[in-house]
Formats: sequence, C-alpha cells, structure tokens
Amino acid sequence: MAKPVSQKILIKNGRLIDPKNSVDTVTDILIDDFRVCRIGKGLSSPNAEVIDASGKIVTPGLIDLHVHFRQPGDEEEETIASGSAAAVAGGFTSVVCMPNTNPPVDEATAVEFVHRMGRQARKTFIYVMGAITKDRAGKELAEIGLMSLAGAIGFTDDGCGVQDTGVMLRAVKYASMFDVVIAQHCEDQSLARHGAMNAGYKATVLGLPGIDPLAEEMMLWRDIQLIKKTRIRYHAQHISTAGSVRIIRQAKAEGLPVTCEVTPHHLLLTEESVSDYNTNYKVNPPLRTQKDVDALKNAVQEGLVDALATDHAPHLQSEKELEFLAAPCGIAGLECALPLYRKALIDEGICDWSQMLAMLTWRPAGVIRVDKGSLAVGDRADVAIIDPDVEWTVDADRFFSKSRNCPYIGWKLKSKVLYTIVAGEIRYRAAT
Ligand code: DOR
Repeated sequence: MAKPVSQKILIKNGRLIDPKNSVDTVTDILIDDFRVCRIGKGLSSPNAEVIDASGKIVTPGLIDLHVHFRQPGDEEEETIASGSAAAVAGGFTSVVCMPNTNPPVDEATAVEFVHRMGRQARKTFIYVMGAITKDRAGKELAEIGLMSLAGAIGFTDDGCGVQDTGVMLRAVKYASMFDVVIAQHCEDQSLARHGAMNAGYKATVLGLPGIDPLAEEMMLWRDIQLIKKTRIRYHAQHISTAGSVRIIRQAKAEGLPVTCEVTPHHLLLTEESVSDYNTNYKVNPPLRTQKDVDALKNAVQEGLVDALATDHAPHLQSEKELEFLAAPCGIAGLECALPLYRKALIDEGICDWSQMLAMLTWRPAGVIRVDKGSLAVGDRADVAIIDPDVEWTVDADRFFSKSRNCPYIGWKLKSKVLYTIVAGEIRYRAAT
C-alpha cells in the first residue's frame, strides 16, 4: 500500500470558517507534515503548492455519518473506491459506512475488510458501523465487542430497525461497555409493513401502500426509554417527521445522550415528488409532507440537529427502473450534498454558513467521538475549499459514484467543492 505523502500546501486569502473554534476570517493557512502548520495573514513558504482561495470558503473537511458503499457484495452499485472518490468530490474527508452489505458487516473481519479497502482507495477516511444483530436479522446480538476492538465506531442494523425490544435492550446494555454509539434506523415494521411511500392521502390517490410516520416515531420513543436505563450514546438516523423532532427535543431537554441526523432529501423534497412514480424519489424513510420538512428545518434552526448526513444509497439503474413497489429505496447524493444543504438551509434563511458547517464537521465528529472537524494549528489537515457562488447543473454522467439514482439530475445548484485535502494531501481537485 502506498505510503502517505506529505505535501506542503499554502492556501491564500480564503475565508476560513472553523465553527468549532468560532473562526470566520479571511486568512492564509499553511499545511505541512499532514497538519495545519500556520494560520495567519501574509504567509509564504518556498516549495509549497499555492492555492489562491480568494472569495472561497476554507473549512474543516466534511464528515458524513451515513453512506452505503455496497462492498462487499454489490460492487456493481458502488465500491469503497468509487464511493470514496464520490465522497472527496463532495468535500467529505471522513465518512461512516453502513453495515447493510452482502454479507453484512457483523463480525470483526468484515470491519477490518472495509477499513483495508478504505486505506487502499486512499481518498476519504472510512469509519465503520457494525451491525447490531447477526445478519441484521434482529434476533441475536452480533459480536459488538470484537467489532468495536476492530475499530467499529458504532452499531446499527440500518436499512431496518431492531424490532424486538428485548433484543434492543440487550444491545444497548452490552454496547454500553464500549465507547461506541448505537444508531438506529427507526422503523416499526408492524406499522410500516411493506409501504413504499409516506402514508396518507397522496399514497391513497397513487394506490401505493404507505409508511405511517408513527412507524418511525414509535421506535424512536421506545429506544429513548431504553436509553434512559443505560445512558449509552444513541443516534437517531435520518429522522423525517415532525413527531420525531418533538421526541428528540424532549430527550435532549431531559439531558439524555441522544443525537440525530437529517438528510438533504428530507429537507428539500416532499411526498408530492412521488406523483409520477419516479423511483428516484423512493427512499426509506419516505419523503414526507411540507409540515414535516418545516419541522426538520425548525429543528436545524433550534440546534436540535447534530449532523447533516447524506444516506448516500447507490442502486443499479436496472433495479430503479422496476415498478415503484418493486424498486429498491435509496438516493445517491454525496456529490451534490453540500449545495443541496445550502439550498435548503442557507438560501431559506434557516442558518448561516458557520452553523451549517458545524453540522458537517465538529458536531458529527462528536457523535462518533473522533478528534476531527476543526482547523487549528496542529490539527490534522482535513480541508475542503468551496466556491460558494459558482452555479452548476447536476450531471450524473460526471459522478464518481457508480450509480445514477439521483433525483437532483438537471437541478441548477450554487456552491461547488474545488479542493478536498485529506491528512495534508490533495485528494480531489475540481476539473477547471
Ligand atoms: O433509502 C434507503 N436506502 N434507506 C435505507 O435505510 C437503506 C438504504 C439502502 O441501503 O439502499
């Protein structure tokens, strides 16, 4: 495996936004020996590659707590290499891979495999969440201890939630012996059944089975009762309903160690998009109502949302071309996530750049307890350089991801990642 390369990089005149350290100022940054070496105006350095960042935003590299890279098992949809390339093109210097691969990541060797593939891909940092239960079948606990020793930073059966309350209680009790986070895809199957979109009038009109918001809210509420017993760190993945926001608000008010994430699609799209049965809008949890979108945005404004996470879920075109009921759920979105968040949050006056970048840097780092998401002298140089003003049109043929199941194709978006630097090495530069 190639050794890490130490590059000397001088970023000139960029607007450094480092929310963790309350920094928002125009300055230079010198990177050397994998780290931030100096910050200040008028820096110079012989032999450094100079990046003119005038008018650009320089931020700690983005962190995505929720991606599906499909390896092992479904490499035709995505590999760790292609997903990692998509990640750095989106400004992400760290991502967390979900365990719903084939076979699932439910033992230590699988965790090691994903890490190894990540190192070989040499693009973004790869973190791993292992499965809570063996085969993600919800019956027997997986080897949470051994996976955590192998470096898994958290556990989830993502793709589905752990249905059996007794199994979930054992999981949180066992996992509380390790410094890990338990994450949950909240969905009570007895309520969701085989729903294909949000339950309600629209689903009835379209003749599609619906997933009631209660499916998410009941499991979230149940888990929070379990967390009260164990006090383990708990992370609610891709929350999508106004009811979930209320539950999270209450849990946080009680001081419970509960965090949550929101996706771009749940901030931007509603069930109305499903009207023409376009399967690129089929996702789980499903797109909800405008009321839910507004509640999620209010939650961001209130500071209740800890992380913006893509739930990048690549699928084959041939599968997405199946009829709506048979098509798989998921949206591929790593490469356009940042401008989508901007559109949903900054352009709508919900928050400013610093508040938005906090949910993409130090706050998600805190959820998985990694020392990242800050750009002070001495910090590891994970950096994204963003042109906030440039407009571009989403063209899936230019994706590094192998998949094209993206509802934003053809959208005109504002803001583009120009450079992504990972551990002091330029791993992505936008084509000029
Ligand atoms: O839409 C989704 N797709 N939601 C999930 O929870 C899983 C994901 C996938 O793996 O395709």
